[in-house]
Amino acid sequence: MSPKPQAALAKAHANIALIKYWGKRDEALHLPAAGSLSLTLDGLWTETLVHFDGREADAFELNGQAQSGATLVKVSRFLDLVRAQAGGPVGGAWVQSVNHVPTAAGLASSASAFAALAVAADAALGLALGPDALSRLARRGSGSACRSLFGGFALWQAGEAPDGHDSHALPLEGAEGWGLRLVVAVVEAGPKPIGSREGMALTAQTSPFYPAWVAGQGADLAAAQAAIARRDLPALGALAERNALKMHATMLAAEPPFCYWRPASVGCLEAIRALRAQGLGVWATMDAGPNVKALCAAEDAERVAEALRAVAGVEAVGVQGPGPAAQVLALGEAALAGPVALAAT
Ligand code: PMV
Repeated sequence: MSPKPQAALAKAHANIALIKYWGKRDEALHLPAAGSLSLTLDGLWTETLVHFDGREADAFELNGQAQSGATLVKVSRFLDLVRAQAGGPVGGAWVQSVNHVPTAAGLASSASAFAALAVAADAALGLALGPDALSRLARRGSGSACRSLFGGFALWQAGEAPDGHDSHALPLEGAEGWGLRLVVAVVEAGPKPIGSREGMALTAQTSPFYPAWVAGQGADLAAAQAAIARRDLPALGALAERNALKMHATMLAAEPPFCYWRPASVGCLEAIRALRAQGLGVWATMDAGPNVKALCAAEDAERVAEALRAVAGVEAVGVQGPGPAAQVLALGEAALAGPVALAAT
């Protein structure tokens, strides 16, 4: 009988931070200046097959398209980190990923991508890294990926160690049972001014607001955890919205200044404020892009979605609930069928 192929298929869901990660204390190791807290989403995920088939150079296919250049290099460098833990020589790998996103319009996530890659590569080589080590590994691909190892709420503790061993995410109880929803409004994109990696570095180097941002994170994290423990949506929502606005304020004061917002982003923020003025419990958050995500209760999600759909320049709106932890879907021969070809719809 031929040996079992060193292959695994894994799935990881995207996460959206309610208390944001913006700024590193170590660029190379992706160590954050402060902790962050996120919600993993049920409807946005990446499925990835990793097959260490002994080829000379790694190969990577994303959504059916062979990748080269910087994208392939990023995946290959990440696999080097995994190979280094194998305790013996490991050859190249065939990597096949499919991003499941509700529209083709730019919600693909490096967080779900690197979490799925970490889980699949670990399982393919039988390393059996625990959740902390997998979260640390995913962090090396993209900081926010360390939170996608876990379902529901995840807390990424910044850690203090120079080697980053204490900088990983932990699952936080309490996302289920109070009907939380995140309504995602995809806004017409236009050219992105700057990637998150460069954007946070520029902010840290030049924004006079950056020290205040970092200094405030501990209090925001503690308050968010307390709000989650008491299932206090108004408190959590208000904290999340203010935290996101503080993060974007640091960028407006960078040199040169930059802004991810588009006219439709502002339209969504206004629509959310208008709903709140009518007594609805809904709060906004935004990341390194123009899309707006609205936190609300399940019973209000359709009304929020309708209001966001009516904003000029909004291309699509989807409703997300809390999602599950990253997981291995298949091992060995069974994994070789690869990700389900769920193309963007
Ligand atoms: O993981 P990165 O390097 O793509 O950075 C993510 C940064 C934000 O999405 C803006 C905030 C966050 O905490 O996810």
